[in-house]
Amino acid sequence: MSFDDWLTHFRSNPARQLMIEAGIDWDAPSPLDARTRRAFVRSFQRFELGESGDGERLLAKASAAGDPTYLAALELLVVEEQKHSALFRRGLDHLGAPTLSSHWSDAAFTTLRRALGLRTELALFLIAETVAMGYFVALAEHAPDPVLRGIGRRISTDERDHIRFQIDRLRVGFRRMPGPARVVVGLCWGVIAVGAATVITVDHRAALRACGLSPLDYWGRALRQFRRAAQSVLTRPRARPLGPTTKGS
Ligand SMILES: [Fe+2]
Ligand SMILES: [Fe+2]
Repeated sequence: MSFDDWLTHFRSNPARQLMIEAGIDWDAPSPLDARTRRAFVRSFQRFELGESGDGERLLAKASAAGDPTYLAALELLVVEEQKHSALFRRGLDHLGAPTLSSHWSDAAFTTLRRALGLRTELALFLIAETVAMGYFVALAEHAPDPVLRGIGRRISTDERDHIRFQIDRLRVGFRRMPGPARVVVGLCWGVIAVGAATVITVDHRAALRACGLSPLDYWGRALRQFRRAAQSVLTRPRARPLGPTTKGS
């Protein structure tokens, strides 16, 4: 398949990002009480780290796979992730809190990803993005601070396309694998997704509660989002590409 539409999307997306950011009043003081503020600080500190990688090894693997258009699109996705990290830094600044230098869940995830091939690394990326997506949406819709809602809106808009992009590339990777083997792959992904959803739910429970979500509800929602994406890859690897949500707009 051709990734031209995706490259066009990632090249034009900064304009959409700026439009969303223009709607955020960064100078507005935070209305949060001390306890709620602490919940979001803890949560944002972890996301700031999780989104901050330079993607060097991932891009090297993608480069070896030999599709320059895909590689160029993936490079721009990595830039978007770095912008997400910067948005969380800005959110922390708004909340009057510093960044963290490292956190075990991020270090573990990075070590795991580095040891793997492109397809598996992309699968882990998809798992991380699908289990976190509900958090960004909850932030966008229910965070009790308009600046945090703006950050959620900004990131969830990008991530919706990231998930579609990973699905389109992963489908290419699984096209030649026989059905029964794909079932086994799906089970392995499912085990990792349960772990990832649990870590995110436990780590961010206070912020989730402040957005009106019970941790258990969030956990179920995260796994449903993962399952939809995984099924889309593994049961329909030859389906028409999803393409970006911005296509034709
Ligand atoms: Fe991100
Ligand atoms: Fe992403």
